[in-house]
Amino acid sequence: MNANFENKVVVVTGAGGTLCSEISIHMAKLGAKVVLVGRTEEKLQAVAEKIARLGGTAYTYACDVTDREGVAALARYVEENVGLCSCLVNGAGGNNAKAMPTITSFDPRELTGELPEGTRGLYDIDMDAFESVLNINTMGTVIPTMEFAKQMVKLGGGSVINFASMNSYCPLTRCFAYAMSKAAITNLTQSFAAYFAPANIRINAIAPGFMVNERSKAYLGTVEEGLTKRGESVISHTPMGRFGQAADLLGCAEWLLNDEASAFVTGATIPVDGGFLTLGGV
Ligand SMILES: NC(=O)c1ccc[n+]([C@@H]2O[C@H](COP(=O)([O-])OP(=O)(O)OC[C@H]3O[C@@H](n4cnc5c(N)ncnc54)[C@H](OP(=O)(O)O)[C@@H]3O)[C@@H](O)[C@H]2O)c1
Repeated sequence: MNANFENKVVVVTGAGGTLCSEISIHMAKLGAKVVLVGRTEEKLQAVAEKIARLGGTAYTYACDVTDREGVAALARYVEENVGLCSCLVNGAGGNNAKAMPTITSFDPRELTGELPEGTRGLYDIDMDAFESVLNINTMGTVIPTMEFAKQMVKLGGGSVINFASMNSYCPLTRCFAYAMSKAAITNLTQSFAAYFAPANIRINAIAPGFMVNERSKAYLGTVEEGLTKRGESVISHTPMGRFGQAADLLGCAEWLLNDEASAFVTGATIPVDGGFLTLGGV
């Protein structure tokens, strides 16, 4: 328990996912009433059950965070059934393999349809998937922030955490839509922080490094059981020599959501990356 969070309403989007399920559980342990948001009710229920077993309080609400009407309805539900939102964690986001080429640089054969079977160049990617990655990572943060800031104004202040990435600083290969949308997040975090400062609403971002989950095991491998070529490259650029765990983010998230501990911090993007950004790669 922590007096700064007891009975405070914390809304977490992407709460069924790897990172934000752990943040949701952590905030519930500190005494917050946590509203778990995502599109798939079953994923949210699984997290709500874990929180209930720990004696915490969680609500689930299935909703697409890029849908303005849907998010407005979510905000009404929260205000009427849970209470005014003090903290928002904008964790919903991600990438889509269909929005990515399989090759790291231009091959003239992609213009003539002569790439080998199973190889995809930039010109072969699914542009709807590309747009949807941009939308979820950008508007999926803008829309909930605007909705829940209205409730924070009524409370006299609040705190928002957005999710940036190592791609926010310098793009990884093949991740065009993801990287540009995560670069937008650091910029949005600054501009919304400035805009909402008079309302005492602090807006910051966490930039996780390479965190372990089922997807990352497939394309990066593991330090213990063997790395892929890309995994080796990541680890060789990570001074701490390991991938991150969701638990590595909890201290940073708690600090940024705590109005006393981080009272004068706004517009910041905090890397939690084992030092990945400290090296230039040479
Ligand atoms: N894991 C990493 O290594 C890493 C590194 C840097 C940054 N990040 C960022 O950190 C955030 C959390 O990552 P994660 O690894 O926890 O991802 P994750 O496991 O894929 O979880 C993301 C969650 O977002 C939800 N979601 C996706 N689109 C949504 C939408 N339109 N509306 C509502 N919910 C939606 C998904 O649930 P549904 O499909 O059920 O909606 C999913 O549970 C993301 O923004 C990610 O880009 C992750």
